[in-house]
Amino acid sequence: MAEKEIIETSEAEIAVHWQEEGYYHVPLDFIAQANMTDESIYQRFSLENFPNCFKEYADMLDWYEYWTEILDTSDAPCFKWFKGGKINASYNCIDRHLAKNRNKTAIHFVPELEEEKVEHVTYQELWVRVNEMAALLQDFCGLKAGDRVTLHLPMVTELPVTMLACARLGVIHSQVFGGFSGKAAADRILDSGSDFLITMDGYYRGGQLLDHKEKADVACEAAAAAGHKVKKVLIWERYPGKYSAATPLVEGRDFIVNDLLKKYYGQRVEPVRMPAEAPLFLMYTSGTTGKPKGCQHSTGGYLAYVTGTSKYIQDIHPEDVYWCMADIGWITGHSYIVYGPLALCASSVIYEGIPNYPDPGRPWRIAQNLGVNIFHTAPTAIRALRKIGPDEPAKYNYHFKHMTTVGEPIEPEVWKWYYNVVGKGKAAIVDTWWQTENGGFLCSTLPAIKPMKPGSAGPGVPGIHPIIYDDEGKEVPKGAGKAGNICIQNPWPGMFQTIWGDRDRFVRQYFERYCKNPKSKDWRDWPYLTGDAAVQAPDGYYRILGRIDDVINVSGHRLGTKELESAALVVPEVAEAAVVPVADEIKGKVPDLYVALKPGYHPSPELEKRISQALATEIGPIAKPRKVWIVPDMPKTRSGKIMRRVLGSISNKTDVGDVMTLANPEVVEAITKMVQG
Ligand code: WT7
Repeated sequence: MAEKEIIETSEAEIAVHWQEEGYYHVPLDFIAQANMTDESIYQRFSLENFPNCFKEYADMLDWYEYWTEILDTSDAPCFKWFKGGKINASYNCIDRHLAKNRNKTAIHFVPELEEEKVEHVTYQELWVRVNEMAALLQDFCGLKAGDRVTLHLPMVTELPVTMLACARLGVIHSQVFGGFSGKAAADRILDSGSDFLITMDGYYRGGQLLDHKEKADVACEAAAAAGHKVKKVLIWERYPGKYSAATPLVEGRDFIVNDLLKKYYGQRVEPVRMPAEAPLFLMYTSGTTGKPKGCQHSTGGYLAYVTGTSKYIQDIHPEDVYWCMADIGWITGHSYIVYGPLALCASSVIYEGIPNYPDPGRPWRIAQNLGVNIFHTAPTAIRALRKIGPDEPAKYNYHFKHMTTVGEPIEPEVWKWYYNVVGKGKAAIVDTWWQTENGGFLCSTLPAIKPMKPGSAGPGVPGIHPIIYDDEGKEVPKGAGKAGNICIQNPWPGMFQTIWGDRDRFVRQYFERYCKNPKSKDWRDWPYLTGDAAVQAPDGYYRILGRIDDVINVSGHRLGTKELESAALVVPEVAEAAVVPVADEIKGKVPDLYVALKPGYHPSPELEKRISQALATEIGPIAKPRKVWIVPDMPKTRSGKIMRRVLGSISNKTDVGDVMTLANPEVVEAITKMVQG
């Protein structure tokens, strides 16, 4: 345990040295039009009014049958929200808007190539496409409520069309980030027990039309090798009517969706009336062990929560053009590109490619051309755009009323560039802290009510009551300037229901540490452990310091160190592997990979390359290490545990501290020499 504690303190200590910044005040013209300007909302959503406060969010939705019990705690900590309610997410995101807004744009699809036409998909057209796809899934695949389907789609309109078609039927979608490998898709197919994989032939990234379908072959092979046969692979064409991948179709298994759909043109599917607590989707995320966890999100609770937070914190109005630059393959995209904005009848932008293609002015051209007025991205993208195109925003004529940052702590310097240069000093900024598990925001300012403070996320959002515990379970008081483990005292509707198929792990990982009584049916006994370290300032704002577990946050995406290490061990020469996070100017953190070889093998540049490639193949290019260091031996404790902390200090060129208690202190010097020269 000693090793782990040292990691925790050092993470926290580094960040606590940051100075608290002063407030920035939100422009008055933002406040004048904001959805939420009533300070009493904090009173309405206080712990005293919990859980009934969340009726306000549920009432933003249309229910077939209104719920009878707001929160059922009988199976704590698997909480059920809006029990007795019947609802359909696809109906709430599409059908209910048709009467007044059928001709309004639901989705602006922006292809990466600038010479290609931007698609403006109206709510009417979205409705038609979702209905036809739902008919296909039902008839051609025989899918029904409760079945799981794995999606491995890029950033194209077909992704929300497929998600909403599943939701229409009550089929649980599990979208795997398009940049992930076929192997990563296979793991998720297996874990969720999906019989079908829905993918696309290709998509553009960095100016290249990638062959994406080859990943489906890898996924099916890997799943088959593990004893699970994917029955059918459905392939959308990036250019309808023209198959664009070099990889051939597998006879009898692979089908082109665009061809199949012809049979379903004009067909309509009644939305299935789902219980509020029926799962809507799975979203896999990395944890402390090698196996990714399928976070199971509910239909009614989740949709209510993302709708409420989209309205009050993203300040989305139906007339807004809203652009979240995240990928729909991550939770941010599910909640704040698809479900939240569409439930509010906004126009949501989907951009296929990378922000700096063909040049770093691209995002601002898109904003100008589409009239985007709400912009949402991550510090890693802001840092990159600031580095490569610091003067670009000034060249374009767009106006953001509101901007969001999400995914990792933002350095105050970077925040100020975002505010002054991207926002031209005229936008409200919210720094939203939350996690895949949470469905929606945990901490953020309410933009028209609270001032902004660079580098701080803000207080808990309405209805979220954070608490910081020290390692002994004592509360760290506000303003103590001391870091601790930030937890949430109460459940909320967007909170995931469980880890798919692994309730024990759900309880162990998120509740065991601070649970007062494991038999309790009272939500007060089940504080939720976020796994982040944080400090709370005297004004109640939280500053998030980073993860306390073995997770590395690369460009705002979570990668488990164990996942990366197991990928390295796929290379036959590798005996041991250890991954450590290294500070990076753009990406926040990048992994350094240390490996020790089996006896009889020798280091070579070729081997380094092969190991690095293994991480890209097993997980995806995002997992590629900054550097592979082949070391003579790993620094180890006497009990044989690899001292990642020591390797981390070497990679980051910080003090390694006392290593004399190690089993092999002499290797530390050898490794330091190798890494630092
Ligand atoms: C982890 C969750 C939720 C969508 C994006 C990532 C870190 C997230 C912030 C923020 C500081 C943040 C935390 C968290 N994080 N947002 N605004 N400030 N840190 O989702 O992959 O589940 O990662 O990202 O460490 O635990 P995720």
